[in-house]
Amino acid sequence: MKSWPIAVILLLVALGSAGCLQAEKPMEARPSKAATLKVPGENASVQSPFQATADSLAEGKRTYNIYCKTCHGESGKGGETVTQRFEYLPADLTRPDVAGRTDGELFWLISKGVNGTEMLPWEDLLGEERRWDLVNYIRTLQAK
Ligand code: HEC
Repeated sequence: MKSWPIAVILLLVALGSAGCLQAEKPMEARPSKAATLKVPGENASVQSPFQATADSLAEGKRTYNIYCKTCHGESGKGGETVTQRFEYLPADLTRPDVAGRTDGELFWLISKGVNGTEMLPWEDLLGEERRWDLVNYIRTLQAK
């Protein structure tokens, strides 16, 4: 039968528009815990004891690419590699509100994680200097 490919295409289009072939929850519809998370007390105004030297940025990049890239993406924009099954998708670290956070806030969020999401507290694994290296490196992603 000559017309069956058209029937197949029409079926696929119908399935697609009915949502059967799409992800269960489109990315833009996801909730965020981090976006509204207030960093408590004095933590937000903590200043980095470590300058953003070439060495710090190189170390930050190395650390980021090992531990953070899988979720937040090489560019920091997220949405590249991670499973769609996360309830809270990894934040786009280049978003204006994240870029607008203080160094102390980013350091605290990296250290303590975002409770109830896949963002774990990194302070047990990464020493203080490496977490500041990450803050320094994330600033370069936000500046791109
Ligand atoms: C397993 C996935 C995963 C990994 C690995 C991961 N994150 Fe996250 N990250 C998340 C999720 C999920 C959130 C919270 C998203 C939300 O609630 O909007 C988040 C939130 C954040 C935030 C807060 C952003 C905001 O909205 O203020 C920062 C900063 C951050 N991550 C940095 C890092 C850094 C640095 C690393 C590596 C040490 C890292 N993350 C590793 C998943 C991950």
